[in-house]
Amino acid sequence: MLTGKKIVLAVTGSIAAYKSLLLVRLLIKEGCEVRVIMTSSATNFVSQLSFATLSNHTVYVDFFKDNTWANHVELGLWADLMIIAPASANTIAKAANGVCDNMVLATYLSSKCPVIFAPAMDLDMYLHPSTKHNLINLKSYGNHIIEATYGELASRLVGQGRMEEPENIVDYVKSFFVNSSKLYGKNLLITAGPTYEALDPVRFIGNHSSGKMGWAITKEALNRGALVNLVLGPTSLMINPHANLSIHHVSSAQQMYEASKKLHDHADISIFSAAVADYRPKDVAEQKIKKNDSNFALELIKNVDIAYELGKIKKANQVHVGFALETENEEINAKGKLAKKNFDLIVLNSANEKGAGFKHDTNKIKLISNKAITTYELKSKDEVAKDILDQIEELL
Ligand code: CTP
Repeated sequence: MLTGKKIVLAVTGSIAAYKSLLLVRLLIKEGCEVRVIMTSSATNFVSQLSFATLSNHTVYVDFFKDNTWANHVELGLWADLMIIAPASANTIAKAANGVCDNMVLATYLSSKCPVIFAPAMDLDMYLHPSTKHNLINLKSYGNHIIEATYGELASRLVGQGRMEEPENIVDYVKSFFVNSSKLYGKNLLITAGPTYEALDPVRFIGNHSSGKMGWAITKEALNRGALVNLVLGPTSLMINPHANLSIHHVSSAQQMYEASKKLHDHADISIFSAAVADYRPKDVAEQKIKKNDSNFALELIKNVDIAYELGKIKKANQVHVGFALETENEEINAKGKLAKKNFDLIVLNSANEKGAGFKHDTNKIKLISNKAITTYELKSKDEVAKDILDQIEELL
């Protein structure tokens, strides 16, 4: 769920700083990229080296190191999220008042991403009206506070002031990203995989689609809190169950159409990633077709175009996203499909690109809307799914 998220962890002066070592490990285990910055007071509790080793990156404490300037602005812009944990009473007071006398505060003031404070201090400091006032101010600026918990404190006093446990901070971060996605609570209809068009009880016409791209989009949409109806053609994909996922197994284009039509009305977003067979055998033999001495001619009739038919009944508040796999005149053909099938966005795969298209774990795409064309590098299908859903979020 947190794969690829860029996190700046700011550690300030509190005995709870040791817990942030575990926080770094847990975030990295979840797939985050973590950069740590510390106040000099924090380095009295836990060494810079410990954080540098765990995060596998330089830890900044000062604005200057070995004659180079630590670029706090860049760090603040790089991050998807900044977590200040532990946040000492001193840092909370300074941040609430715009003081900028160290690397942590400079990064905080120049960051564009959301910021979470996880306070840790002695109970009387936490209860002090000035601390309370500062936390209210920080909240009013749009920051998020993970309240300190109750328990025994370093002073041996018992009360509220303990920094929340790292596991719970990670859970908070996960739900933070889910809830902040525009896909949260949205109904998605996704078609994926190939269709098989029967010729007789043992033979079919099909294609090499693996369904991997559709599954990658499904996983990422679930991560963002969407409710997904996946209409899936025959594949050998390993599908993990999820509370917000319903799978509708189908075989032919006609079955895929019927299942999709039922679900379409309630779908906020429909993503047509299936490689639907355009034609099917006119007659399906009831028994296995026997070989004889002459040639065998097959008459094919047109299948329903699912995306086109549902595009005709698309409502103003529905978003449709299609795919196009092209070998020539790629952009022109994709734009033609965008218009013809009433898509809001089309994902163009080039069959000429190495590592893209059917069966591969990677893909190289262009996203085309009526307004713009965006070209992406060759990436894993999981990363491509993020790019597609990011663009869909922008459309919402
Ligand atoms: N599609 C569909 N039903 C079909 C054929 C295609 O829903 N019977 C959808 C695909 O899922 C994709 C888009 O339409 O999102 C474009 O599919 P593609 O096969 O590239 O286009 P076609 O219209 O079939 O054109 P052609 O095969 O001639 O390029």
